[in-house]
Amino acid sequence: MKRIACIVGARPNFMKIAPILRAMKSTPELKPTLIHTGQHYDKNLSDVFFEELGISRPDISMGIGSGSHGKQTAEILVGIEGILVEAADRGEPFDRMVVVGDVNSTVAAAIAAVKLHIPVAHVEAGLRSFDRAMPEEINRLLTDSICDMLLVSEPEGVVNLKNEGHADSKIHLVGNVMIDTLLHQVKIAKTSGVLKEHGVEPRNYGVVTLHRPANVDDKKVLGALLDVLIDVSKHMKLVFPIHPRTSARLKEHGLENVLQSNPNIVCLGPLGYNDFLCLTSQAKVIVTDSGGLQEESTALDVPCLTMRPNTERPITVTSGTSTLVGSDADKLQLHLNEVLGGTYKKGECPQLWDGNAAQRIVEVLLKS
Ligand code: UD1
Repeated sequence: MKRIACIVGARPNFMKIAPILRAMKSTPELKPTLIHTGQHYDKNLSDVFFEELGISRPDISMGIGSGSHGKQTAEILVGIEGILVEAADRGEPFDRMVVVGDVNSTVAAAIAAVKLHIPVAHVEAGLRSFDRAMPEEINRLLTDSICDMLLVSEPEGVVNLKNEGHADSKIHLVGNVMIDTLLHQVKIAKTSGVLKEHGVEPRNYGVVTLHRPANVDDKKVLGALLDVLIDVSKHMKLVFPIHPRTSARLKEHGLENVLQSNPNIVCLGPLGYNDFLCLTSQAKVIVTDSGGLQEESTALDVPCLTMRPNTERPITVTSGTSTLVGSDADKLQLHLNEVLGGTYKKGECPQLWDGNAAQRIVEVLLKS
């Protein structure tokens, strides 16, 4: 039996680990231990996902919380190291670690493990935006460079890893675990009353999310994006669940009123998984800077206008329903008109985004 340390920290990690834990739990040869760093700690950014996705309580909760990149990453690294050493001292050493995604918890945990000679598998390896100003890009590069098992969600990831000189034997194209969760939850999610609650009709509203530092930290950039959204809201109601980072910046920049005074923009706090999926699956369009949402909109066949200049998930643009609009108001308007006029491009769901990625990951783990 192999003891596997599974690491989560921030919101997008929870939907990625859920199907992996489920698949591991029905595999007697694997014994997962779930470690939550506490990078995200608010109930609606963390606990609610455990409840809705049927993830068992973390075996270990570290409670690290927020901080600068250096402080947060360092505290997670030190904390995880202690947990791994303590397990070995107890005579129950971990045989492997599994990390997911690209948040600070991902890279910190991987560094702690490899230095203790515990091999690490990275789920969502190989994604590259080629934009080193993004903290996630640094996390992705560092994590992949020290992992021995690179589990990839889309073919371009394989190309990137090969270009970086990773051996073929380390690279496994397994598909997308986030879509495993989406397919597992979509039926129950659609029973949520969230559309009625916020006065929107199926296929007649847009969903907005914004949280990237590049989009929300600077007052001018955020103000310009809000102007675009206000313009969009003249054509269709928008539902905007606001991330705590964005909410703090709106206050700081004195931009809260601009949104609150607009009856066509429904501002909410962060939503749980099922309510959010209920909204996105029946939206006319999604406007976002999130990485995961680009993938989910492609799987849901909903147009996605991505407010970023680049993406580490190019298949969502080349085959899927996403278009990069950056912060270009004209471009956003152009594509929005296509959505409203029914001429927006049609997308295709990528291969291996089929609900069985976690099972393929378990098969790779069993062979290692
Ligand atoms: C993190 C990830 C990002 C991911 C995002 C999803 C990194 C570098 N970034 O960004 O890749 O897309 O999560 O949400 O790991 N806060 C709360 N409650 C919480 C957690 C945070 O209010 O439970 C607030 C704090 O003010 C905190 C700020 O949000 O300082 C930012 O949190 P942090 O974890 O540093 O990064 P995110 O912006 O959430």
